[in-house]
Amino acid sequence: MKRCVILGTGLIGQQFVRLLDTHPYFELTEVVASDKSEGKSLKSKWNLPSFEIPDMFANLQMSSLRNLAPNSYDIVFSALPASIAKEIELEIAQNGKPVFSNASAHRYEPNVPILIPEINAKHLEIITHQDSFNNNGFIVTNSNCTVSGLAMLLNEIRQVQQIKNVYVSSYQALSGAGFEGLKSIPRDRVIPFIENEEEKISIEVRKILGSVNHDRIVNNTEIDEVLATCARVPVIDGHLEAVTIEFKTKIDPTAILDHLEHIRSDLSLPTAPSKPIKLFKDLDRPQSTLDLYDKTGGRSSGMVVSISPIRFTKYHLRCFLLVHNTIRGGAGGSILNAELAYSRGFL
Ligand SMILES: NC(=O)c1ccc[n+]([C@@H]2O[C@H](COP(=O)([O-])OP(=O)(O)OC[C@H]3O[C@@H](n4cnc5c(N)ncnc54)[C@H](OP(=O)(O)O)[C@@H]3O)[C@@H](O)[C@H]2O)c1
Repeated sequence: MKRCVILGTGLIGQQFVRLLDTHPYFELTEVVASDKSEGKSLKSKWNLPSFEIPDMFANLQMSSLRNLAPNSYDIVFSALPASIAKEIELEIAQNGKPVFSNASAHRYEPNVPILIPEINAKHLEIITHQDSFNNNGFIVTNSNCTVSGLAMLLNEIRQVQQIKNVYVSSYQALSGAGFEGLKSIPRDRVIPFIENEEEKISIEVRKILGSVNHDRIVNNTEIDEVLATCARVPVIDGHLEAVTIEFKTKIDPTAILDHLEHIRSDLSLPTAPSKPIKLFKDLDRPQSTLDLYDKTGGRSSGMVVSISPIRFTKYHLRCFLLVHNTIRGGAGGSILNAELAYSRGFL
């Protein structure tokens, strides 16, 4: 068992706590909060929508970064705001510990992977080119929450037919803006702006679908444009995305549907769903609250990307997709990354 610490006790931090409960590889030993919460019990801060705190962590006392002893843990799951994560994550990696981060702080460095094991497990190798790897430390990031679902779909589609352009409009849940967002964003309106989000989507999709070239990840250039428009909508969890894909040549709908229906994961990791993409037949599904969890999924519940019935024209495909932003697009994605690193002998 690897002893792990969670940095941050916000929405993603709390989702980590829940998902690490009784994990077969990782044992949660410490949770780091900001100074104002140090010494308080985790249950005093718990407000994760839809989930109770696991009994065994209810009385765990939150600690602070100041008191984090390097020999008390083996790996770190980071759920810090990006502005704070930048320096702290680097320092921890340089001190010889693996960091699995949700923050965007290091995502765009060429030797830091934005890992989604179903897509780019090979990118994990790039950590051996980080300076801190000489000391066994490294940083692995997961993607922006909206990107996590979109990249899964695009990766499958590109295996059947060459993509020319991607247009996506997102309907993003309040929890995507952290606890502050859940508390303070008005519940009676749609807000057609999320800071820096549209830019992130294009950049991250290209990196995730890119390739490893010796000591760096090279962005995908086969797709001409990835154009995103992003809105915040008053639902608690789950990002819905309206996706239009334009192809370079005339499409074969049967080949695309056949491929999507037969996707199976070969990862065999605790948090990896065996069928990572689910196709719905009803025209009004998937829906945010209704279709976020797979009741038979166990540890991988919340990790499946759901797709509506697909509409085709000669050169276009249109559909909605739904992704759980704090699980597949957050803590669950990070834990899956750590499971991959564990299974490949990096931990
Ligand atoms: N929410 C999502 O859907 C989502 C998805 C993917 C990635 N992310 C990324 O994941 C990270 C966390 O997001 P979130 O939604 O969990 O945000 P959040 O709910 O705002 O939580 C951030 C947490 O960081 C803590 N914190 C701030 N400064 C700290 C310090 N110096 N030491 C220790 N803890 C500190 C805060 O503590 P206090 O509560 O005590 O202030 C808070 O608990 C962000 O980088 C975000 O961009 C979020």
